Amino acid sequence: MEDNLGKRLKQELENLNSLGADPSGGLSRLLYSKSWVEAQEYVETRMEEIGMHTFYDEVGNLFGRIEGTSHANEVIMTGSHIDTVANGGSLDGQYGVIAAYLAVQLLKEQCGDPKRSIEVVSLAEEEGSRFPYAFWGSKNLVKTAEASDVKDARDRDGIKFTDAMKESGFDFRKNDRRREDIKAFLEIHIEQGSVLEKEEKQIGVVTGIVGQQRYTITLKGQANHAGTTPMGYRKDAVYAFSKIVSEAIEKAEKEGDPLVLTFGRVDPKPNTVNVVPGEVTFSIDCRHTDKATLKSFTHNLIADIKQTVDDMDMDVEIDHWMDESPVPMDEKIINIIKEAAEEGEYSYKIMPSGAGHDAQIIAPYYPTGLVFVPSIDGISHNPDENTKLVDLVEGVKIFADTLYKLAYEN
Ligand code: HGY
Ligand code: MN
Ligand code: MN
Repeated sequence: MEDNLGKRLKQELENLNSLGADPSGGLSRLLYSKSWVEAQEYVETRMEEIGMHTFYDEVGNLFGRIEGTSHANEVIMTGSHIDTVANGGSLDGQYGVIAAYLAVQLLKEQCGDPKRSIEVVSLAEEEGSRFPYAFWGSKNLVKTAEASDVKDARDRDGIKFTDAMKESGFDFRKNDRRREDIKAFLEIHIEQGSVLEKEEKQIGVVTGIVGQQRYTITLKGQANHAGTTPMGYRKDAVYAFSKIVSEAIEKAEKEGDPLVLTFGRVDPKPNTVNVVPGEVTFSIDCRHTDKATLKSFTHNLIADIKQTVDDMDMDVEIDHWMDESPVPMDEKIINIIKEAAEEGEYSYKIMPSGAGHDAQIIAPYYPTGLVFVPSIDGISHNPDENTKLVDLVEGVKIFADTLYKLAYEN
């Protein structure tokens, strides 16, 4: 049974990778896009084939449920996100969804139905890649997302969040009553770093997830003629941006690990060879395991940006759209994963997560655990993102062992 797990995993990945394949490389399966709808429908069909009862919540999170035989009103939830970054890899998020339903299938085949109910959730959105809002799926699961957070949001083509959501058949949630039947949440995910590979460990048992701050900044200078505007008369937004970035990266390097700072998106306007750029919109992604350090670093960074803008007689718009604190995972669940790893003789490492995950949104409300499998060369958010099949399979097996402890044992 387990030996064809590799075949099942490969087949699931092949099928899902065809939904959102980007001609310019990798997967671009963005929230409420056509490929996102198709991917949710595919997962829905597969979960029904496994014998789960499936249902969506209002915003488009998809659930597959196996009723517990004796403690049905206690739910062990597991899953991850079905959306991807633009030109992303084929494992970030979707491996966790596939691993969850394949683990349930394995358990049903080997042990019958669980004592407690198990729900697999394919979360609608985690990346924040289409609209300036991340964790839309998990934040609606724990009822912390607000309609006001996104009602004016638009993607880069100007499409409104609310239009995209309603055209996909979904809407804002109807109630704020947080579920009380969820007794644990478990997520498996690729590490997206190279620690497990370098230390030759099969499994990462995550202790906590970094805090994240994300901004969208628009510098407003003055577009002008590239030939007739002397250097001294310019308000060149790209020059201002370059001063900001080099100063900030130097400060981040001085602060040292585990602080990370990324200017991942840069849109100059009018982005034309013979026009002094009058405007630059760029993103900031800053992370740290310590909340105070993260707060003070980003506070100083924004102050530096305002100073540079003042010195260059320009204007600036600042949209601070993500402020997530670092979150510890549940000690009890960490120990259950460790127990499963030791019983299954898997090599494992206790470690923090430098990537954000739905688990960090869910952990403050339900006991939560996160399991990593190695990433080849630590590459992620890139079409070359990859993990050895044997590691993906081991991940499903230890995941199933952990789910067994939570849902089948007393
Ligand atoms: O950006 C992250 O850390 C995650 O992959 N969304
Ligand atoms: Mn992810
Ligand atoms: Mn990601």
